[in-house]
Amino acid sequence: MKHLTRLTLLTLTFCLSLSTTRADEGMWLPSLVAEGRINDMRAKGLRLTAEDLYAVNQASLKDAIVRFGSGCTGELISDEGLLITNHHCGYGQIQQHSSVEHDYLTHGFAAMNRSEELPNPGLVVSFLVEMRDVTDAVLKGVKPGMDEAQRTKIIDRNKAKAIQAATKGNHYKATVEALYYGNQYFLFVYEVFEDVRLVFAPPSAVGKFGGDTDNWMWPRHTGDFSIFRVYAGPDNKPAPYSPENVPYVPKKSFTISLKGIDEGDFTFVYGFPGRTYQYLHSAAVRYTQQLSDPHKVKLRTLRLDIMNRAMAADAAVRIQYAAKNASVSNAWKKWQGEMRGLERLGTAAKKEAFEERFEAWAADKPEYAGVTERLAALYDSLEPYAFARDYHSEAVMAIELLKFAGNFANARDLKPETIASLQKAADGFFKDYVPAIDRETTTALLQEYARYVPARFRPQGVVIDSFATAVFDRSLFTDSVQLRALLATADTAALRQQINSDAAVEAYRAFLSAYQNTIEPTYAALNRQLDTEYRTYMRGMMEMLDGTKEFYPDANSTLRIAYGKVDGYRPMDAVYYEPVSTLEGVMQKDNPEIYDYDVPTRLREIYETKDYGPWAVNGTVPVAFIATNHTTGGNSGSPVLNADGELIGVNFDRCWEGTMSDLEYDPTVCRNIALDIRYALFLIDRVGGAGYMLDEMKFSK
Ligand code: ARG
Ligand code: ASP
Repeated sequence: MKHLTRLTLLTLTFCLSLSTTRADEGMWLPSLVAEGRINDMRAKGLRLTAEDLYAVNQASLKDAIVRFGSGCTGELISDEGLLITNHHCGYGQIQQHSSVEHDYLTHGFAAMNRSEELPNPGLVVSFLVEMRDVTDAVLKGVKPGMDEAQRTKIIDRNKAKAIQAATKGNHYKATVEALYYGNQYFLFVYEVFEDVRLVFAPPSAVGKFGGDTDNWMWPRHTGDFSIFRVYAGPDNKPAPYSPENVPYVPKKSFTISLKGIDEGDFTFVYGFPGRTYQYLHSAAVRYTQQLSDPHKVKLRTLRLDIMNRAMAADAAVRIQYAAKNASVSNAWKKWQGEMRGLERLGTAAKKEAFEERFEAWAADKPEYAGVTERLAALYDSLEPYAFARDYHSEAVMAIELLKFAGNFANARDLKPETIASLQKAADGFFKDYVPAIDRETTTALLQEYARYVPARFRPQGVVIDSFATAVFDRSLFTDSVQLRALLATADTAALRQQINSDAAVEAYRAFLSAYQNTIEPTYAALNRQLDTEYRTYMRGMMEMLDGTKEFYPDANSTLRIAYGKVDGYRPMDAVYYEPVSTLEGVMQKDNPEIYDYDVPTRLREIYETKDYGPWAVNGTVPVAFIATNHTTGGNSGSPVLNADGELIGVNFDRCWEGTMSDLEYDPTVCRNIALDIRYALFLIDRVGGAGYMLDEMKFSK
């Protein structure tokens, strides 16, 4: 016991004292589930032990899970390195390999043997080797009341030491992450593989079926998966791409369940959730709900309206703007769900009431008294800066031309290699660029910017009204031919001069320096003060609610377990959503006239003949399901597992009514959306004609 930090003790108490759990909320640290959480999981149906989930000295489920790239999760489904994640997680790679002759985005891709698998420079997958509480070591030398700058210095030094110790004499990578606003620190050790090859992708009409129309929504019928293979050197250790590399033999890979799922079944999601904000002060919730989300949504609506009109009018533009549209649309739709959800739950008012209770409790505790008021005051000061910052990123930096010109403004030198890489960036940019769309968008966005952002945050000398005309008519950066000619200039000084005096570069610099001079410094300084107060507030909450509330740290892209059950929900009055969707729904949506719902011919044919082979379930094929697992961005691609830890699905989204779960989880409507693994197998086998891939998987029937 003497090694336990005070906080671990606290956590332990929370876990042991729980008799009833708040339904299904929480993203738990795998290495701590043994300390009590496991009992609740087992009571709800899990048939595994804590060591089956997480162990350091023996293989456990965590060894079959990776962080895929930087923003997704993936899992191993064979002992030969085969990995499954979402189609939208592998989208960049699939797109990179696509050309007019080999349009894998449209037609899908299937490697028919190992030599056809496609390498992806830059893509890495990271397995967690170990995670450990290092709070004592990180806070060593830190004294109460210490000056913040000095405190940070000590902590940084201690973190570096812990990382060094964990990576000495091995090939691992390590990070130390703060949990609970710096009240606890954990060390995470990873083994990072850098030879990851594309094996299979369904056509986008399957992998992205429903597109942005169905995004964040249930009922859903998207076959959102893609398959890769992890390669290692002959010693099974990470190695850069080489034809000599061999499929990685993982310590563990998932058995795939063919038993199916039913409403009420226990499930858990094991993956890398990105960011959540469960312990936010009411002022921050209000800002998100009443200012930030609505303004960001409005700005993106302007962009989407212009884009959509141009895309509907021209098939080539539709392709050019497909990826941009998807990314603008994704957060746009989520924020709308989030603000509505926060409003419906009255999250801000609930938090205010809690803050009052907190201050009453803290009245005789000088360590905590007044912290919520100090947070409120800081948020008051922060608001104009946060707001101007939102406009900087959502209005100014949404201007494609400015962002592009930024590459040139920021180029440190103009050596031949730099010019070659700028030319490459230019080729990529112009391939998918329609100046008329950008120009119209610019005018619309800057009108809002001028209307809402006070003059003190705006660049002097930039005339908003004539901005689009002035910049788009004069800049060389709107035209690939002019730009290519410019970059061919042999005289570097003349080239530099031309770049510096270009209207787009000048505008980019003007906006950037206004941001850097008038917004960023105060914004950052206030946030540092907020961090300090949150550290106190968080510790206070944990002390105040000791034994009555179970705490879990906010998501921070580290490995977590969420658990719940397959469950429908009521999105509105008189409507109940069933938790399982099938191929019938795909065909009900089928419409060759609508891009998002144009079912591939091969799938239509199979549906006509009902030739589902072994994949038939009650005369159809299951496609997706929803469950009460608490997930967020980054959980995409995560394994969704049954009570025996077998793979039943691949997580890819959440239901719209529950997207406020990053701030408040509501068990009645928060649902994660998973692809039924049997749909992926059916598609690989019947549509992709790559049934041989199944030979290396393990099934449980
Ligand atoms: N909403 C899902 C997530 O946040 C899927 C996003 C990709 N799909 C899309 N239509 N934009 O990432
Ligand atoms: N679609 C998200 C992702 O890509 C998952 C979510 O936000 O629920 O990680």
